[in-house]
Amino acid sequence: MALYTDTVMDHFMHPRNVGSIENADGVGEVGNAKCGDIMKIYLKIDDNRITDVKFETFGCGSAIASSSMATEMIKGKTIDEALALTNKEVVDALGGLPVHKLHCSVLAEEAVKSAIQDYYEKNGIEYDKTKFPCEECCESCRMV
Ligand code: FES
Repeated sequence: MALYTDTVMDHFMHPRNVGSIENADGVGEVGNAKCGDIMKIYLKIDDNRITDVKFETFGCGSAIASSSMATEMIKGKTIDEALALTNKEVVDALGGLPVHKLHCSVLAEEAVKSAIQDYYEKNGIEYDKTKFPCEECCESCRMV
């Protein structure tokens, strides 16, 4: 069996929503200390809904495919729906990732949450901090 599914390869070779958004309403950047990969997600939010999303990922193919899929999954969704996105859902939508690549999908979940957190902070919106990755935790604590 191939290491990567056709869906992973498709999103890696033809990633959706690549780029940045000028004057984004929320920007989230996360990294993985072990592999050094970095993922940045930009959100445009109107009336509590994600109207546009872009990403820049400097990382492995699985991280690029995960970013691409995650951005497709949250586009047009409400903030709460996007916050509920898990790395497992991203992996399932990709048709699976090798076990040693699961942590790449965690970056996508965290980047989405980080961008929403940035939106909340910029707009002085009260939010439940427990729904976000612990800021004091080191990157490797977050690894799967
Ligand atoms: Fe670093 Fe995939 S190996 S995110």
